[in-house]
Amino acid sequence: MCGIVGYTGNEQAAPILLDGLKRLEYRGYDSAGLAVRDGGALAEVVKATGKLQHLADKTDQGRALPGMCGIGHTRWATHGGPSMVNAHPHVSGNCSGSGSGTVESDVVGVHNGIIENFSELKEKLLRHGYVFYSDTDTEVVVKLVDYYYKKYKIGPVDAITRTMVRVRGSYALALMFKDYPNEIFAARKDSPLIIGTAENASFLASDVPAILKYTRSVYYIDNLQVARVSPGSVKFYDLNGDEVTLPLTEITWDAAAAEKSGYEHFMLKEIHEQPAAVRDTLNSIIKDGDIVLTETGLTDEVIRSLSQIDIVACGSAWHVGMAAQYVIEDLAKLPVRVELASEFRYRSAPMPENTLVIVISQSGETADSLAALRVAKERGALTLAVVNVIGSTIAREADHVLYTLAGPEIAVATTKAYSAQLAAMDALAVRMALARGQISREEYGHLIEELGTIPDKIRRILEDKERLQWFSSKIANAHDIFFIGRGLDYAISLEGSLKMKEISYIHSEAYAAGELKHGTISLIERGTLVVGVLTQSGLYEKTVSNMMECKSRGAYLMGVTTNGNFDVEDSVNFAVYVPRTDEHFVSSLAVVPLQLLGYYTSVSRGLDVDKPRNLAKSVTVE
Ligand code: F6R
Repeated sequence: MCGIVGYTGNEQAAPILLDGLKRLEYRGYDSAGLAVRDGGALAEVVKATGKLQHLADKTDQGRALPGMCGIGHTRWATHGGPSMVNAHPHVSGNCSGSGSGTVESDVVGVHNGIIENFSELKEKLLRHGYVFYSDTDTEVVVKLVDYYYKKYKIGPVDAITRTMVRVRGSYALALMFKDYPNEIFAARKDSPLIIGTAENASFLASDVPAILKYTRSVYYIDNLQVARVSPGSVKFYDLNGDEVTLPLTEITWDAAAAEKSGYEHFMLKEIHEQPAAVRDTLNSIIKDGDIVLTETGLTDEVIRSLSQIDIVACGSAWHVGMAAQYVIEDLAKLPVRVELASEFRYRSAPMPENTLVIVISQSGETADSLAALRVAKERGALTLAVVNVIGSTIAREADHVLYTLAGPEIAVATTKAYSAQLAAMDALAVRMALARGQISREEYGHLIEELGTIPDKIRRILEDKERLQWFSSKIANAHDIFFIGRGLDYAISLEGSLKMKEISYIHSEAYAAGELKHGTISLIERGTLVVGVLTQSGLYEKTVSNMMECKSRGAYLMGVTTNGNFDVEDSVNFAVYVPRTDEHFVSSLAVVPLQLLGYYTSVSRGLDVDKPRNLAKSVTVE
């Protein structure tokens, strides 16, 4: 939620900042702003509401804002609605109107996160004569830094650490001080922030793609640390103001991976990257025909000692957990609970000794998942993070990490990261089954072979996407869509339904097929689309019966099933087939047509597929 960038070096800052913001626009897109310094005391602040393009137009693509040091922000509103006045940057001094223009403020800043005690701090600052022009918590932080800076006549680092002690909540902050014209000061707690360096230039950003074009050498600033960023060099400080050393990490992601490469949308590109994402993830776990989890700390001995697994995640990552639950329980015969991260901490469900808590997260920064991880650790559980973004907070705080290798995912709606997570969890399930003596070596070898076929089978599904494109255009005006399935097919229905609603804005629900008749079937009327997922042979007939119950009440039916089940066409109006594979893993295939259905429906409705309204990629607020 919200993206921040910063640049100081020997080139014009504004075009670099705009370029970085463009790559972070998935994090928020209700307004954006820049503040640039041209060596002197003044900072030029420009803001615009709506898409980033408005800011680019307003600044002549950045050319109208001279200066080699600056900060930028793209906003996803939390405190204060989307408006010019609430857009960042915010300034410590008084200003009128929208807060745009040339300012001589001592402190100018941008922020990602939420300051929980901002009202109390605002009261204090009002008593000291500060005037507020926005409704944001950010303006309060910027003014509080200014207050300490002036009151104690201390340098920026100490003013920031004093502020950090005083505020509660989460933040990634980038601040410029009038007295330090070529430097940016940054601080972080529970919101992502990286700092990159190159020759004579330094960058800061909420996420890697924003700076990948300029440098691959990055520092992951830790919680409760401050950075002093100068052209080509960075110094870090702890809360006491003592200098600390951080390791420099080399990013291996390919810069091209963060570009659209000719696809109309990032989402379509990422759907097509799924064979590679799954293959790379599996290849990192499967070595010489063996699933090797040693790096994750899950030795066979540890696996044998486990009494229970709790999978905790949000949104699509939670759907991966739902699918993994069926696979782990069936193969490894180990009890699995799947919890929404946002609810996990409100339950005091007993956690037996030797519980493994697996937190699944693409970004590794989701606030609810991070909070759940911390609760799990407090309760003494062993924790494993299945995470895509290297060095992210969840990856760093969990006892062990299993990285998915999906590469940067830009579209707000996840596709390739979801598939990579699913593959990683399936591989985990297979190793657990072997370690717990639930499958023979031969079955183990066979399952690994089957896993290895998934990338190519996904590729084959993608070759036949035109039928889905055609069908999507037919259903683009639907009001309600129901996705139903049983067992693993229910888990996939959950993801299909989310993909549909989040990018097409068509109301959709996923139901365990057997559950429809307990209430929801009353919503079915003439023409309501019901999508049945039918990949589990033992459940196929039962789900088809549930679909027929809907059809007899006027529903229009689509079925997703495996090759060979051609009799489905006797029941449904539109059938999609995926290649056959071991039924434990078929969800990796069945989800692909559902992703395409959501994608093409959104395109048919003329919507902004990559940046659906009200959403942000990385949800760093609770
Ligand atoms: C939906 C989607 C979200 C995320 C959820 C968790 O397409 O992307 O539901 O899955 O916000 O995000 P991560 O995986 O970053 O923790």
